[in-house]
Amino acid sequence: MAEESGAVVRYARLSDAGAISAITAEYAREGVMLERSAESVIENIRNFFVAEHQGKIIGCCAIAFYTSKLAEIRSVAVLAQHKRKGIGRLLVEKAEEILREEGVKEVFVLTLSPDFFGSIGFSEIKKEYFPQKIWRDCTHCPKLMACDEIAMVKNL
Ligand SMILES: CC(C)(COP(=O)(O)OP(=O)(O)OC[C@H]1O[C@@H](n2cnc3c(N)ncnc32)[C@H](O)[C@@H]1OP(=O)(O)O)[C@@H](O)C(=O)NCCC(=O)NCCS
Repeated sequence: MAEESGAVVRYARLSDAGAISAITAEYAREGVMLERSAESVIENIRNFFVAEHQGKIIGCCAIAFYTSKLAEIRSVAVLAQHKRKGIGRLLVEKAEEILREEGVKEVFVLTLSPDFFGSIGFSEIKKEYFPQKIWRDCTHCPKLMACDEIAMVKNL
């Protein structure tokens, strides 16, 4: 699997669930992403990837499938001390590789980090472009009526 800055990106294992949940919880406290509980990570374990560095989980990312041609990349996070070393890019590239293998044509993100996703080929679009996303997740989000996330899309 991909290696850069000494990190390896691979499919998550059940034993990574606690570490993944902890990374998302840290950023959820800052209000920049939704927390993923260890239970929800375990339930979706085949859709999660991690970046591992010297035996430690330093980043994560997940795929959510919507149709046979449309998917979302979500829960992308890299521990603060490992940012800006290309780990986020590696995680998203791994997810994109799997999506291409599955025949997915279009991938989207809802994010407060448009500069990161812009630099790896995503373009901003109107949120209404993806009604499925609104129905599935957003109804449970505390920010529903004041959503500040930016929708971005990339053709694979
Ligand atoms: C967004 C995040 C995942 C990026 O991870 P990362 O490993 O630091 O990103 P990379 O090093 O792969 O960055 C790739 C490119 O994205 C751009 N980029 C990354 N972070 C950026 C930032 N804070 N501001 C501007 N551009 C940024 C840069 O062009 C960068 O390339 P460069 O370092 O050569 O200039 C990380 O900052 C993070 O975990 N943020 C908190 C959680 C979050 O907001 N996740 C997104 C929710 S979906």
